[in-house]
Amino acid sequence: THPQSTLFVLFGAAGDLSWRLIVPALYRLYIDKHLPDRFHLIGVDRMPLGPEELARHYAEKLAESGEDIEKDERWAGFCRSLGYISGDLKDPAVYRQLRTLMQAREQEWRESCQQVYYMATPPFLFADIASNLGRAQLHRDRKRARIVVEKPLGRDLASFQAINRALTEYFHENQIYRIDHFLGKETVQNILALRFANSIFEPIWDRRYVDHVAITVAETLGVEHRGSYYDHAGALRDMVQNHLMQLLCLVAMEPPAVYDADDIRNRKMDVMHALRPIPPEQVAQRAVRGQYGAGWINGCRVPAYREEPGVAPDSDTETYAALKLYVDNWRWQDVPFYLRTGKRMAADVSEISIRFRPVPHRAFPAAGSEDTHPVALTLRIQPEESIVLHFFVKEPGSRARLRRVRMDFNYLDAFKVATPTAYETLLRDVIAGDASLFMRADQVEASWRLLMPVLDTWSDTKPTDFPNYAAGSGGPEAANILTAVDGHSWLTAF
Ligand code: BG6
Repeated sequence: THPQSTLFVLFGAAGDLSWRLIVPALYRLYIDKHLPDRFHLIGVDRMPLGPEELARHYAEKLAESGEDIEKDERWAGFCRSLGYISGDLKDPAVYRQLRTLMQAREQEWRESCQQVYYMATPPFLFADIASNLGRAQLHRDRKRARIVVEKPLGRDLASFQAINRALTEYFHENQIYRIDHFLGKETVQNILALRFANSIFEPIWDRRYVDHVAITVAETLGVEHRGSYYDHAGALRDMVQNHLMQLLCLVAMEPPAVYDADDIRNRKMDVMHALRPIPPEQVAQRAVRGQYGAGWINGCRVPAYREEPGVAPDSDTETYAALKLYVDNWRWQDVPFYLRTGKRMAADVSEISIRFRPVPHRAFPAAGSEDTHPVALTLRIQPEESIVLHFFVKEPGSRARLRRVRMDFNYLDAFKVATPTAYETLLRDVIAGDASLFMRADQVEASWRLLMPVLDTWSDTKPTDFPNYAAGSGGPEAANILTAVDGHSWLTAF
């Protein structure tokens, strides 16, 4: 069925997130004919602009990123759906104007439309926007009025709860779409397909066969132009609290009975409930933080984190975080889940590696590598989207020497089409009213709750060794110890 006629209101339309990610994704959806026939994009922001100027602004930004669209007829078509209101997002008059504009469009179309309110603004505006929408009665259609927000959803448990109270003052939980853009990535969604559409993986997907799980999200990028945001966040808030925790839930959750938003999110919530808390006295054994110093990335010298623009010269913010987690339930008891993420690492690699137990009895002469490199199933999220099974075969010509080989599945090779970007997938779902790939409040809250002792301990104790890893390296040595004490290692190729 074709999606319903939609009024899409973009708060913060002139800002970074809008031109970098949201508008390009909407434009792609338009080109691919995934937007409703009747679609009106209304930008709202402080900048005094007209819709034509806003369109030109987007076109320039898109051109900078290599898309030449200004002469493209499709771009002109897309821009015909663009409106703009300029004003202070805290000013109730803006919302009256918005309502008038929306009503005019509905009258012209002779139908009532669904409404999407996307907050592409800094989070300190979320509460004002939500309550202004509420006071202007723009939240009233419980099924068809939706707000979309994106991290940072707070910087700790209390501030998350405050944001959430503000959002739920007028809006119901089922009207709130909290984006975690990792969930829009194809390979991330594919975790559930791999696990629950094939009968061969699930029987061994538990503590009897799985030895440990390692989740890595490593980036070569530094903090770019986002130093002033990042310096108040750090890797644990920026990446672990949301993206890595979502990956863990997808790997560890029980099968949903049906593939729908509530069932999937309930099963994830079961994982969150089962996560073994990290009491303050265990933080040192179960969490590692790091900050990069100067180093080399792809042959270029890059500065230390403390020298980046927007960052305090004596900053203690972590640019790397690793955790050891346990899911205390029947399936996963005592299986370590290692999570790590860092900026300015040696390579761009995001992957989940499920490592299996060694065989109970080894009849082959010792070959060496199976002790350190177990049979593993690796789900690669970036840079290429692939699934790789690492296993042992006999080396040709030898009597019984084993070698670890790989069996590869690669998305691009198999389907020959570029996969949609995360934002295309997520925006399409918002418009379709499908919340499966969005975060529910209870889950976000549980994640903050779990991490609070780590955040508190880290803010109370000054790291003495920062910077403790060089840009372009594999991260701090302490992270290797985190796994080595259990006889494991991270094993990613860098
Ligand atoms: C964002 C973080 O949520 O995710 C960034 O704020 C990070 O710091 C980014 O670089 C990574 O996402 P992606 O899709 O580029 O891998």
